[in-house]
Amino acid sequence: MKICVIGTGYVGLTTGAVLADLGHEVHCVDKNKLKIEKLLEGEIPIYEPGLKKLIVRNKKRGLLHFSTDIQGVMKDCPILYITVGTPTNKDGSQNLTAIIEVINTIVQTTITSHKTIITKSTVLPGTNEWIHQSLIEKGIDSSMFDVVSNPEFLREGNAVFDMMNPDKIVLGARRTKPIEIVKTLYEKLHAPYIITSLTGAEMIKYASNAFLATKISFINEMARICDAYNVEISHIANALGTDKRIGPYFLNAGLGYGGSCFPKDVRALEYAAKQKNIVPEMLMAVQNVNDSQIDLYIDKLVNKLTSLDGKKMTVWGLSFKPETDDIRESRSLLLIDKLLERGAEIHAYDPIVHLFEPAITIHQDMYESIKGADALIIATEWNQFKTVDWKKVKDFMKGNILVDGRNIIDPKIVTSHQFHYIGVARK
Ligand code: UDX
Repeated sequence: MKICVIGTGYVGLTTGAVLADLGHEVHCVDKNKLKIEKLLEGEIPIYEPGLKKLIVRNKKRGLLHFSTDIQGVMKDCPILYITVGTPTNKDGSQNLTAIIEVINTIVQTTITSHKTIITKSTVLPGTNEWIHQSLIEKGIDSSMFDVVSNPEFLREGNAVFDMMNPDKIVLGARRTKPIEIVKTLYEKLHAPYIITSLTGAEMIKYASNAFLATKISFINEMARICDAYNVEISHIANALGTDKRIGPYFLNAGLGYGGSCFPKDVRALEYAAKQKNIVPEMLMAVQNVNDSQIDLYIDKLVNKLTSLDGKKMTVWGLSFKPETDDIRESRSLLLIDKLLERGAEIHAYDPIVHLFEPAITIHQDMYESIKGADALIIATEWNQFKTVDWKKVKDFMKGNILVDGRNIIDPKIVTSHQFHYIGVARK
């Protein structure tokens, strides 16, 4: 099957590379010439474990191509994947500029054969129906295309694995024929299909992310209560996890959720609900807990240091989670902003993110970054922060405060090195 993947961002590249690996001829297109030039030279614009290998292998096999000739490729391919960005505005509404551009390009291409248009971008309920109507209104006969909503459930850092081993494949469409076509694309994958309407598929994506975000805010609220009663939160989370109805995942308390999906999707779902005069009390509470989670740690720091003004703070971890270089809505950066507002001097280290940020000092070496620090804050749970030489860290620091923003350090070990440990609900 000849496939055109429109948009070479994180979702587009992973989708294109995996579809090529499954044996399809894939053409990834993007209007960004520089990005395509780099991809043609073998340079991958994002850090995602396993992706580069997959891209190189399938380019060699002649199954993966990159181009800026969007119309030329579209004309040739019966399958079009939409994987462009759909950022959320501050009020939760969605910026559909990139999707509108794709619609207009399809129209300008004057297609002469049937296209199955598969939307992978996360879009608010009703958007795929709107895409369908827009194409008809712009003059494309409904017999010439089908729209299929096929949301992605990829975790950054595990994207290739997640796409190769999905828990489920969600397909929403107006009729069954395009569903059968998409099923043939995924015939080598072993996953149950969830077949629904276009809007149903969109809702599944938002409900999944909202539920996962809810689990995180729930455990963070429990951690606040446990803190007050001197109870270890990991014991509570482990116990909850043994109940099959709850499950063990997404129950790690800490600085809260960040990234390119949860914050924007929960905000967008709140917006969608309000558009229909529904007040989504739970979604609002989930966001409120998440928004105030960083302040909890700042308060604990202020309690200990009285003032943060002029204090030297080192932050370990800048990406929104480990195994990615993505800093979108990273809790670490939000925390740094709040520390800077209080006059702290910030030094930072991340294994792969090397920002240029004049307000802070970025170090290439984790031990170098802590020299003379009053406090060390772990903001992202990179594996290398779990196995540090605590004696060396203590010797390099001026102060002795360790803030464990992800509850990954054993307080017993660090207190034995005379650290003052700050976590949430840790004994
Ligand atoms: C998420 C969804 O998991 C994925 O299915 C969807 O397609 C895209 O959004 P991602 O944003 O890559 O994936 O990251 P995820 O691993 O889900 O973590 C999101 C945030 O939640 C991170 O900031 C992480 O640190 C935080 N988190 C996660 C917690 O604070 N506690 C947890 O127990 C789990």
